Amino acid sequence: MISLTETIRVARPVQECFDYAADFRTTPEWDATAFKAKKLSDGPVGLGSTFSVRCRLPLGSIELSYTITEFEPAKLVTLQAESWLFSAVDTITFAEEQGQTRIDYRADFSYKMPFAALEGALKNGMQRMGKVALRGLQRALEDNNAAPEISSGSATADRLLWPGLAMFSKWGYRRGRKHWLPMSASLKGKRMIVTGASSGLGLATARELARRGAELILVMRNPERATAVVEDLKTETGNPAIRHELADLSLMADVDALAQRLLKQGQPIDVLVNNAGALFNDWGETAEGLEQSFALLLLSPWRLTQALHPLLKAAGQSRVVNVVSGGMYSQKLRVDRLEATPDDYAGATAYARCKRALTVVTEEWAQDWAEDGIVVNAMHPGWADTPGVETALPAFHTLTRLILRSPEEGADTIIWLCAASEAGTVSGKLFLDREPRTTHLLSRTREDSAEREKLMRFLEGFEIEALAVA
Ligand SMILES: NC(=O)c1ccc[n+]([C@@H]2O[C@H](COP(=O)([O-])OP(=O)(O)OC[C@H]3O[C@@H](n4cnc5c(N)ncnc54)[C@H](OP(=O)(O)O)[C@@H]3O)[C@@H](O)[C@H]2O)c1
Repeated sequence: MISLTETIRVARPVQECFDYAADFRTTPEWDATAFKAKKLSDGPVGLGSTFSVRCRLPLGSIELSYTITEFEPAKLVTLQAESWLFSAVDTITFAEEQGQTRIDYRADFSYKMPFAALEGALKNGMQRMGKVALRGLQRALEDNNAAPEISSGSATADRLLWPGLAMFSKWGYRRGRKHWLPMSASLKGKRMIVTGASSGLGLATARELARRGAELILVMRNPERATAVVEDLKTETGNPAIRHELADLSLMADVDALAQRLLKQGQPIDVLVNNAGALFNDWGETAEGLEQSFALLLLSPWRLTQALHPLLKAAGQSRVVNVVSGGMYSQKLRVDRLEATPDDYAGATAYARCKRALTVVTEEWAQDWAEDGIVVNAMHPGWADTPGVETALPAFHTLTRLILRSPEEGADTIIWLCAASEAGTVSGKLFLDREPRTTHLLSRTREDSAEREKLMRFLEGFEIEALAVA
């Protein structure tokens, strides 16, 4: 048997350290040998939870199956690992020590026959690896990552346009993730609203935020689907603090009613994710007489966020995440063209114009609300394989199927903007793959300050008109 023992100390509450380390999905963030991990069992992390972790070997990789065999919250977790090469028992104990958390990690490896004979030769290397992994865990828990900046490679790709577009595919995600830093911030007690949580990116976002312990309010429009999503997420993650609110977000009366309900409840909002959206191939009007792309993609998130400003401010430090689209790179802000008429309607153009406008709104809010402690950022997910893309863009979906991101990959930057400590230090940026990116790939799409000002006045004006309709 080879035994590794290491001790680290971290200036964080014991419970937060325990929650992070006991959830073995985090291993790729701190153990350089682990590159893929998932939880196999449903429910909260606890006694009997199972994980699969894929680790690099000098040649190839190995799948380890972990089961939690002892679980005493904030004190001790023991995991039994099995693989074809070895069995291991990882015992991690946690204790408060002079305002810090002391973590003692012991791993006992027993190689299977005929590899047991190699134990003597492997011992030193394994002990070195154990030390490095524990330093990684310490760094992850210290959670003092630098503020996000664009890498020189991404800046070059953006300047060259086509490489910039190639980053929208799953290759961009895979390239980006090589440089990502651990995300160990605790979301317990953080109240987060996600719109459009019934499918695609919104559902993937809700699932991950639920797993991380956030208190979730999921905005959906179909009551049966909403109930099913909430129940599924509770079962899957063991997080009981998930509920839904119903609203057809293309109707301003529904948006207003939703905002009024939340204002009446009066609970501060830590994060608002404006994700709901759709690309309408045909021109259409809502029951309130608004062109539907404009209503759903721009006026709705604008109006909801404006109305919830008091609750965002009340949180002290809060975040707004606006989900836009890379399609907006093709369009310049033209306020007089935001509400398309039936004669000049093209679905993808109307969609892109609204997303461009929401990006500008993001920058304006970031400035206006900085003193209120509200950071506002936009993100675009690249191209992700969601029901929305499959329905609205069937030809694009068929052509690009092999290079599309999964919904989880597309949602990663939304989750990072909601959860990562360093993401709370920047405001008014557009992100892709956890990096702030340019808002213009083409110089012809740059708007002037008068047009930006016009946009904000235009949206405020709509507030009055739509209220009259309601
Ligand atoms: N997937 C991509 O590649 C991609 C690329 C760029 C930007 N985006 C953006 O990402 C966001 C999510 O899209 P997705 O790809 O995940 O599409 P999706 O799977 O179709 O999800 C869209 C979500 O928005 C909701 N929604 C649509 N209309 C609504 C309404 N009137 N009221 C309330 N909720 C409504 C949908 O609810 P229902 O289930 O009730 O329809 C669904 O939950 C959108 O803002 C989209 O523009 C996606």
